[in-house]
Amino acid sequence: MPTPAARPTPAARPSAAGGARGLDWIARTRLTSGVVLLVYVATHLLNHALGLISLGAMEWGRNYFLPVWRNPVGTLVLYGALSVHLGLVLYALFRRRSLRMPMREVLQFIAGFAIPPLLALHVIGNRGLYELHNLNDLYAWVLIAVWVSDPIEGIRLVAALLLAWFHGCIGLHFWLKLKPWYAAGWAPWLFTVALLWPAFSLAGVAAGLREVAILLEQPAWAEAVAAEINYPSAEGLAWALGTVRASYWGMAAILVAIVAARLARHVLARRTITVTYPDARTVTVTPGHSVLEASRNSGIPHASVCGGRGRCSTCRVRIAHGLEHLPPPSEEEARVLTRIGAPDNIRLACQIRPDHDISVAPLLAATAQPADGHRRPAYLQGSEREIAILFADIRSFTQFSEKKLPYDVVFVLNQYFRAMGAPIERAGGQLDKFIGDGVMALFGVRGGVKRGCREALDAAREMSLSLAELNTNLKDDLPEPMRIGIGIHTGAVVVGEMGYPAARSVTAIGVAVKTASRLETSNTEFHSQLVVSAEVATHAEVDLSAFPRRQLTVRGRDEPMDVFVIEDARQLPVLESAKGSRRIEAAVD
Ligand code: FES
Repeated sequence: MPTPAARPTPAARPSAAGGARGLDWIARTRLTSGVVLLVYVATHLLNHALGLISLGAMEWGRNYFLPVWRNPVGTLVLYGALSVHLGLVLYALFRRRSLRMPMREVLQFIAGFAIPPLLALHVIGNRGLYELHNLNDLYAWVLIAVWVSDPIEGIRLVAALLLAWFHGCIGLHFWLKLKPWYAAGWAPWLFTVALLWPAFSLAGVAAGLREVAILLEQPAWAEAVAAEINYPSAEGLAWALGTVRASYWGMAAILVAIVAARLARHVLARRTITVTYPDARTVTVTPGHSVLEASRNSGIPHASVCGGRGRCSTCRVRIAHGLEHLPPPSEEEARVLTRIGAPDNIRLACQIRPDHDISVAPLLAATAQPADGHRRPAYLQGSEREIAILFADIRSFTQFSEKKLPYDVVFVLNQYFRAMGAPIERAGGQLDKFIGDGVMALFGVRGGVKRGCREALDAAREMSLSLAELNTNLKDDLPEPMRIGIGIHTGAVVVGEMGYPAARSVTAIGVAVKTASRLETSNTEFHSQLVVSAEVATHAEVDLSAFPRRQLTVRGRDEPMDVFVIEDARQLPVLESAKGSRRIEAAVD
């Protein structure tokens, strides 16, 4: 196996040529053809909706609808998109090694396969007869033929149109839900449009039918319609019905061929491979299964927000063993992996189809959301960084809370957290967590250790100022002013996003974290407000020699460490901010 150092960085991640690039092209073509079909269905439904005005309005709309979709270019685009989309869906059905999939995908598949047989008679009876037998398929004629003569066909048509519309909308939703703007507020509006569009269309058809029923009471109107449509001859009708029957047989034959090809592939597979998961669960599959399919086959929960289309990244896995046997990521997979800043031992489970044994660890919970696939800083994946860590805690708060009502305790604590959180964020720090009445914050995660140490000192000074202000504001609610202890230390720690979905945050782990916590508690023995390790002062290039320097024994360190003990953090020198643009001016009491 190549060493991690020998592998390329995410930014320079190579992608596989040839076949994998072909798959990217397939995905894009399927999406594009689907969008074309959805536009066609949308304009068709819009034309129906004009029935709410009158039958005449429907015919008027048809005069604009037909020239777009029945001219040679429109015809090529429409039927080309239909053929390509159907072909690619059938290919996807063949290519899938497992037919286990979430219910929403099952419904989309069923909807997709139900549309062609439901629409066959309508398409051949209208477009086919128009092209070959000069039928003028007026709305009036279609409404009579479909609803008056054959209401069952009317119901089939409505079902087909609704299925086509919602099949397209679901596909569009899967695509858009990975876009931040969609989740940020557009989704409910588009959902409303998706519901109202067919509702208006059906209402238009119902209104058109009502008008037709009234007009049919005038024999002259029916005769005029019959004359205008150029009703097909018996030969033409026989051709239409024969073609519909042949299309049913053709569709059935294609489905049977795909099922047979899948069975043959399964029977001919000579070899199996093992996919191993972190809890030592193993799944045996034939080569060609994606890892996501392997998970689904064996009921292992696995996130897949985009349904295995290689867009969301939520199925990502860390490859523990077997990376060297995997082909490089396709262009599309490489793009998604680069977007989330994944190191090169992270791959998309839906895109890798191992042909050797492999060990993987899914990185997200099965309940992952679309936001988990949005662009994220690389450090969230976990990395070792040298940063500054700040701990702060209220002194004697337990005694205070025992004497107060729970409501008062929560009120004071929330005021306190606001007073401490704002200076930390203003200084450039990242609030890690609030633990009871304590605060933990990280500095320099992205800006480096020097900047982090300067920001942490800035934050400590501002926190002290903020506390003084809070004590003034709460003087009637507190038996005595609140006091805090702050500890700041620096060192190499592991930084990353950790936790379970609802409680996940960026945090740090390492000896330096424990040491910073120890410095915070040492304020009690030093009767001080702030204890800063000498290493922080060195990195920050700040002269703290005006403050007492002490030695402190810390568990896990062989030697006592040097610290600066600061009675009042407001006495810290005013620093030119590490960001270079902000300068804190404050008076010390
Ligand atoms: S399931 Fe969305 S990228 Fe794999």
